[in-house]
Amino acid sequence: MIDFRKSLLSLATLLIVAVSLSSAPATAGKHDAKGPESKPDALYHNYCSVCHGDRGDGRSRARNSLVPPPRDFTTAGELTREAMITIITHGKPGTAMVGWKTQLSTAEIESLTDYIRKTFMIVALDPKLQRGKSLYTQNCIACHGTQGQGSNLPIGGSVPARDLASPQARAELNRERMINSVTVGRPGTAMAGFGGRLPAADIEAVVDYVRAAIMVPQTDISGTNAHAGRAAPPGSKPVPAASAAGADMAQPMPNSLKGNSAAGERFYLANCATCHGAKGDGKGPRAYFINPKPRNFLDPAFTTGFNRPAIYAATAMGRQGSEMPAWSKVLSDQEIANVAEFVFQRFVQPRQKATKSK
Ligand code: HEC
Ligand code: HEC
Ligand code: HEC
Repeated sequence: MIDFRKSLLSLATLLIVAVSLSSAPATAGKHDAKGPESKPDALYHNYCSVCHGDRGDGRSRARNSLVPPPRDFTTAGELTREAMITIITHGKPGTAMVGWKTQLSTAEIESLTDYIRKTFMIVALDPKLQRGKSLYTQNCIACHGTQGQGSNLPIGGSVPARDLASPQARAELNRERMINSVTVGRPGTAMAGFGGRLPAADIEAVVDYVRAAIMVPQTDISGTNAHAGRAAPPGSKPVPAASAAGADMAQPMPNSLKGNSAAGERFYLANCATCHGAKGDGKGPRAYFINPKPRNFLDPAFTTGFNRPAIYAATAMGRQGSEMPAWSKVLSDQEIANVAEFVFQRFVQPRQKATKSK
């Protein structure tokens, strides 16, 4: 039996390594992690949101390919600050969570931890807000939505439910006004008063929950998880080679596929060599016109970090923001496995052996 979870996990780990290794340094230096001014929100969005999600709830594209999935901080009330610092520093063995100590200073790891606790974990850490959360689910979610986004449809009238997550709501609604509106309702709209149904303490709790969890400013999240094949976050640095060095080069293809290298070679010469070069050196005839340049498969960054599942995934998913197509759109899984097997056997494997025998 092939150990599925294991191969999935390493696939995912390598994917991230892969993405990071080849990140375009367009804005590198802007959020220099070692610089004095790395704000925790920027650190979070540059380094962590790709897996843990923009709202810290673990909803990211990466989630689908990670076993175990990235942690949902919004329900992680039992996590202590100390445990978090340890894991962020050293990583969590057996998961895709690598340690960040070579990239982030101790002070940055601490401020990042506090940012996560106060931004995403605040509800989980406070019993009163927890109560507010369940009150919200019971009484408000039908009209205001899971994220407070409101409804497009006017419910029982011409006035749609208020988008509580909007910047306008943040600007207009102070705590007092909200408590009042929830208590007495908004005349002429579907928003009825809850004063007769909920005790004052509950109204406060639900309002405080909305303020803590829904009416929070989002840092710039444009172009993040909504997009397929998201590249490494701007300014992120390559994951340290140490994490790639653990790449198990004996890993088989995902989903029990077995690639046929000869068929893969024919496909490679017809379809990939134009960019990656017949020799795999990234100098195919089209390479001259392309930016970023096609990956050089002979480069140690590639030959030490890419095993079969990683090549398979990179080929299937393509690279957004580059000319590397997502081949899963046009090839079958078997065809991808064939060409990935060829790339592995021809370019990676010989150099692996060379590195080892040194
Ligand atoms: C490659 C995806 C990935 C990235 C990037 C990532 N994490 Fe994680 N993280 C995970 C996974 C997977 C887990 C393990 C979840 C589990 O054990 O259930 C995890 C666990 C954690 C935990 C421990 C939660 C627990 O319950 O033990 C913390 C804290 C954490 N991550 C913080 C961060 C921070 C801060 C960053 C950015 C500096 C970050 N992570 C970046 C995937 C990632
Ligand atoms: C039946 C649908 C409905 C339900 C249920 C509902 N709301 Fe509303 N809510 C609305 C509508 C419609 C508005 C817009 C009213 C307006 O613009 O004057 C609104 C507006 C609001 C406002 C802004 C009021 C203001 O002063 O401008 C707040 C705060 C609010 N709702 C909170 C809640 C909370 C908290 C709950 C649950 C306890 C809840 N709502 C339940 C429909 C609903
Ligand atoms: C039109 C040009 C083009 C073609 C055709 C092409 N690639 Fe690529 N490929 C690229 C570029 C550009 C990159 C590097 C993207 C980057 O650095 O972000 C890349 C990167 C890769 C990577 C590494 C991904 C990474 O994260 O570094 C693999 C693996 C790969 N290509 C495999 C293939 C295979 C297999 C084929 C044929 C089925 C193929 N490519 C066809 C342009 C191309």
